[in-house]
Amino acid sequence: MSVMLTVRKLKKLWFGLILTFFVYYFGVLTHIFELDFDTSFRYPYDGDIEEFVHQLRANSTPKVPPINPYNFYFSKPCIEKCRNVESLRLVFLVKSAPENWERRVAIRSSWGFEHRFSDVEIRTVFLLGERSDQELQQRLDKEAGKFNDLVQANFTDNYYNNTFKTMMGFTWAVKYCANSRFYIFVDDDYFVSTKNLLRFIRHPTAYPSYLEPTNQRKLQQFDFDLDENVRLYAGFVFKSAPHRHRTSKWYVSLDEYPYDMWPPYVTAGAYVLSREALLDMYYASLYTKHFRFDDIYVGLLAFKCKIEPFHCDDFHFNKLEYSPEGYKYVVATHGYKDQMELMNVWTQQRSKGYA
Ligand SMILES: *[C@@H]1O[C@H](CO)[C@@H](O)[C@H](O)[C@H]1NC(C)=O
Ligand SMILES: *[C@@H]1O[C@H](CO)[C@@H](O)[C@H](O)[C@H]1NC(C)=O
Repeated sequence: MSVMLTVRKLKKLWFGLILTFFVYYFGVLTHIFELDFDTSFRYPYDGDIEEFVHQLRANSTPKVPPINPYNFYFSKPCIEKCRNVESLRLVFLVKSAPENWERRVAIRSSWGFEHRFSDVEIRTVFLLGERSDQELQQRLDKEAGKFNDLVQANFTDNYYNNTFKTMMGFTWAVKYCANSRFYIFVDDDYFVSTKNLLRFIRHPTAYPSYLEPTNQRKLQQFDFDLDENVRLYAGFVFKSAPHRHRTSKWYVSLDEYPYDMWPPYVTAGAYVLSREALLDMYYASLYTKHFRFDDIYVGLLAFKCKIEPFHCDDFHFNKLEYSPEGYKYVVATHGYKDQMELMNVWTQQRSKGYA
């Protein structure tokens, strides 16, 4: 009798434990306690920062001092890169890792080639942090001496410091290269069609693929003027929720971010900014608490500036399987870690007139 009772109790206990485990593991409770993004979103600095952005851009001093100045020291500032370049159209800011020098070689002679078009001024730099490896650093020093396109600053270069790399790029662009109309931040494992990118920034809303009769994608309703002041933040846009699943690589606790949705953001692998968007978002970063995911952080900056991200299907955050015709309208696609493959695809696409 008493033995039966104990067994039954044990079973209950087991059941309770398993249930607790699942509730915990799948973040069920976390979901219950999430706050509604649409009605209760706040993120430090908690206040209207548009006025501060405006003042900083006009060289005056806001009443609240910045909460978050990223304080970079540029050991390689590449200050000559954009200096005295008239009608600079586009700058590639390539997020690269110190050891990926082979990819940089391929990028310099493919999509990052600065003299691709005689009538369009393009510049390319690679964004790097630091490593403790002295031999690697010496190699970078040589590379920088030869190509003059490495921008390096004092933060540890690793995956978890991607937001530092991104903001280092913003800081560099504002400080040393603010004379370009457009900027694209792109990872070093991407294929980019420079030709399509230039077409895209000329008319984002009428980008050619929308006009293909066999490819009747809906034209986006977007009310911006394509004048000098357009604030463009474009690429593949996500409207998604934070991962509350404990084992996820992107797990986020409620303490870190309590809302049920992220602000709309462009995937970090490739995104385009116009000069106006870059400047506003840079100054907004001085009043926006650091966040470790760089694409979310940039999304937060845009949200604070009330810039709506512009979506384009021709930015692929997964590798688009290669076919010569299938890449006709590709602006950028992930999946080119192998520099030989990049060169092959580039050469073929360029000869077809698509890149
Ligand atoms: C980088 O250097 C600046 C200026 O010397 C310094 O203020 C900052 O703390 C340094 N950053 C890091 C992450 O070491
Ligand atoms: C990011 O870089 C900073 C500055 O070098 C360093 O203190 C910090 O440990 C790095 N973060 C990670 C997660 O490695």
